[in-house]
Amino acid sequence: MTDKEGNLSAKDYGIDQPAEGSLFHVKGMEHCDWGMKDRLSRIFQPESGKTVMLAFDHGYIMGATAGLERLDLTIEPIAPFADALMATRGGLRTCISPSHNKAVILRSSAGSTVLKDDMSQEVIGVDVQDALRMNAAAMAVQCFVGAPHECASLENLVRVIDSGNQYGIPTLAVTAVGKEMERTPRYFMLATRVLAELGAHIVKTYYCEDFEKVVAACPVPIVIAGGKKLPERDALETVYRGISDGAAGVDMGRNVFQSSSPIAMMKAINAIVHDGETASHAWDLFGYEQSIRQ
Ligand code: 5RP
Repeated sequence: MTDKEGNLSAKDYGIDQPAEGSLFHVKGMEHCDWGMKDRLSRIFQPESGKTVMLAFDHGYIMGATAGLERLDLTIEPIAPFADALMATRGGLRTCISPSHNKAVILRSSAGSTVLKDDMSQEVIGVDVQDALRMNAAAMAVQCFVGAPHECASLENLVRVIDSGNQYGIPTLAVTAVGKEMERTPRYFMLATRVLAELGAHIVKTYYCEDFEKVVAACPVPIVIAGGKKLPERDALETVYRGISDGAAGVDMGRNVFQSSSPIAMMKAINAIVHDGETASHAWDLFGYEQSIRQ
């Protein structure tokens, strides 16, 4: 049994040595079947190898949060600027047109709300058959590493991975940071690697210092969540730093739909993620796009 204490500290991350041996543009997915690769290619653009996911699944734990009071009014105009839509089946079926032809990252865990102090007790919230009906490009599961219900959330993850693998549907594992947990490189490095080792095809986490080590130690693509609303300039800086440090994309919600100009924000984010623009150039683009929409 691996000891908990006294192990040597990891230190050789091969930062300057990209993961080799993959002809496929998604890290660590070389040996996946054709269908899985097709779904991953709908999420991660072959040209850039990256993705811009628009997240609006917040209602499954927060109800009608600011900016998502009406999914039909908020999301429809900005969906065309995303590569993938991260949402609940209820939100999609009731409010979002199926004609956007965007990859769906289907929120597939459930059972907790912000009314609870400890939100780590979730269950699997979608049967894989319904994920197939929704033509999901991936299923998303919240993983509470280090929380009171850590084991239950990791069991949810592996069950969704196993059911998705039967049909070639990848799983996105979300590192959920509990209120009492610190957003430290050590935590994110441990959590992201655990989720990848359990079989997750994509991991979502938050940007942190030494993020390049978190990316290097994780054998599957990492996308960064935006988190609580920041000033647009700061949010773009976080996107730029994450992409510069190896993130395969972003999965952003509040920093888009709570922005003063959501479409301008999506265009600025795309400029960084897919066009390699700096945060400064993206900020200029945001300003221009905002000005022509006022
Ligand atoms: C909500 C989620 C969101 O998908 C994730 O947090 C990204 O949204 P945001 O950028 O607003 O954090 O998991 O529970």
